[in-house]
Amino acid sequence: MDAHEQSVEEALLEIERKAKSCVACGLANHRTNVVFADGNPRSPLVIVGEGPGENEDLQGLPFVGRAGQLLDKALIAAGMARKHVYICNVVKCRAANLENGKWRNRPPLPDEIQACNPWLDAQLTLIQPLVVVCLGAPAASTVIQRNFRITQDRGKWFSCKWSPAAIAAFHPAYILRNGGEAYEATYGLLVQDLKAARAKVIELKKLKDQQQPILPVSETDPQMSLF
Ligand code: URA
Repeated sequence: MDAHEQSVEEALLEIERKAKSCVACGLANHRTNVVFADGNPRSPLVIVGEGPGENEDLQGLPFVGRAGQLLDKALIAAGMARKHVYICNVVKCRAANLENGKWRNRPPLPDEIQACNPWLDAQLTLIQPLVVVCLGAPAASTVIQRNFRITQDRGKWFSCKWSPAAIAAFHPAYILRNGGEAYEATYGLLVQDLKAARAKVIELKKLKDQQQPILPVSETDPQMSLF
């Protein structure tokens, strides 16, 4: 590990330590754990999900429930593993409502996403990923552009504030809610998008190693012709 990588890791640990006592929004009231990140903080590929569910809240790690198992399977199908990528979420605490005595997951509210944004901003600013994969519309709307249309625009390349290349993919929880053929089709697209992200990292890493400029990637860029 070089000195820069070490200082990034140390800075992330310090931010995680601070995030663990965050009370910037109401989600702090009911959490078991702040779910900061998992995987490799030196990875050029960052995956951003929506927010922790019950299992993640209990274990303090992102994507460890059913959706996480599907993500792990899709990563392997795309030639990667959890240890090769850095995984985090738009919000670090579980969003859930108490209904008939049971906590039920719900999407994070815009205010909650905004309150949590300094943590995500710090993670992405420190890591400076070559590629960001956003899982689902809330992540893509936070990282890529507001009101992101996941069905129309997943699988396309964008640039974002933190990275020259960002792509959105279907969220594994959405895939799990689909049955039969729709499940197979949407899972296939998740694998396809993760494969595209891996190929884009390899392509941009080559440019970086040759000290060539890495321009923001967009749909009209000929670099897109890879797939
Ligand atoms: N869904 C997410 O978006 N993130 C997790 O960590 C788990 C499920």
